[in-house]
Amino acid sequence: MAGPHDGGPGGALRRGRFTFGPLDEGEALVEPILGSWEANVDHALARSPIDVCSSRGEDAVVLGNLGVVRVLKVNAGSRDVRVREGDLCLLLPFGRLDRFGYAELAYAYDAPHTIGLLTERSKMDARLLLPIPDGTAYSLPQWATYGRYFTAWDNWQKAYGCWRSQVADDDPANHLVFGWGGGVAFAELMLAKRAGFRVAMTAGSDERVAFLRENGITAVDRRRFPALSLPTREERTDRDRHRLRRTSVGDFLDVVGELSDGHGVAVFVDNIGEPLYDVTLRALAREGVVTTCGWKAGMRLSHLRGAECISRHIHVNTHVWRLQDSPGIRDFQEAEGWMAPKGSDVIYDFDRVPELADDYANGRIGSYFPMYRVNPL
Ligand SMILES: NC(=O)c1ccc[n+]([C@@H]2O[C@H](COP(=O)([O-])OP(=O)(O)OC[C@H]3O[C@@H](n4cnc5c(N)ncnc54)[C@H](OP(=O)(O)O)[C@@H]3O)[C@@H](O)[C@H]2O)c1
Repeated sequence: MAGPHDGGPGGALRRGRFTFGPLDEGEALVEPILGSWEANVDHALARSPIDVCSSRGEDAVVLGNLGVVRVLKVNAGSRDVRVREGDLCLLLPFGRLDRFGYAELAYAYDAPHTIGLLTERSKMDARLLLPIPDGTAYSLPQWATYGRYFTAWDNWQKAYGCWRSQVADDDPANHLVFGWGGGVAFAELMLAKRAGFRVAMTAGSDERVAFLRENGITAVDRRRFPALSLPTREERTDRDRHRLRRTSVGDFLDVVGELSDGHGVAVFVDNIGEPLYDVTLRALAREGVVTTCGWKAGMRLSHLRGAECISRHIHVNTHVWRLQDSPGIRDFQEAEGWMAPKGSDVIYDFDRVPELADDYANGRIGSYFPMYRVNPL
């Protein structure tokens, strides 16, 4: 990755030679096969909200922290290494862990001296490699979506637990779980559906509306609410914009009312943040939970604490998942078929990664699961 540049995020990417030293004890040499394109790569290319190069104190960083790799060589040394040459593995994106196993720094993002998957060969700590189950029923592109699924699994456990702490025994079928767009929200709603909730989600294209319906999620076409986002700084004095927003918000809240028998949303999966936050809170039922692991459109939020307390709203914030939960989440995916639907991904060849970066940043990708192919299987 290099900069500065004038164009879109793709313009920040250059093909270049990158060298690394011999394998240290406990490290594996790997060949990336498929990498998942995620918002964190987009953030890194935009150098916002943080500039990962300067925060790591490095001139060049190889991004790409979620994807499927093939192990080429392992230097186990005296370590208890569980992967073998030839294994196909998921890269777990943990840089620095806290004392409970949650990620403080993300691998191939803000954790120094970590090498990601946007390279033909890479090396990494073998403890970060989780083998794909032998004889799996799922394809490699399906597995390559695991980042959004593992994140959703962890966020859902916490959100559901919090909701249950206040609504101990009511049937979930009486309650609505709602999500703003995105692959994490999609995966999370599929868990909510399994738990028996009504599930609905916004989508911004015909393709996504159809996809949600095919998967049993009520699709709410957000083009019906064109002024739903908070007016920008420039629009603040535009009275027409405010009037349009009131209409869009009213229309949206009507839809939520219809889907929830007038009660509002029990669990709101909000990875969008700032421009929709007031609407998210207004849509929430009493004892509702707003749950997030993302801030796609802005992370500086404010709310009325009194109103949130009186409504008994619980706010859940999570990030990644717990390293030691990884095998269990993988096994749940394999056993329960909670997995990106076959063919729901879109794959760009390695040479087209700059195009992928620009398409993703400009919302031109219909799939929730964009990925890039580095090496053939
Ligand atoms: N903390 C973690 O561990 C973690 C892990 C994964 C992801 N995340 C974060 O979670 C967020 C979502 O990631 P994702 O991979 O699920 O989705 P994503 O690929 O980033 O897509 C988000 C989707 O949200 C919708 N959207 C964007 N702006 C919107 C707006 N202003 N109003 C309403 N909808 C809007 C768009 O879908 P439509 O046009 O179809 O509505 C967009 O495709 C990102 O910020 C990401 O960084 C965090």
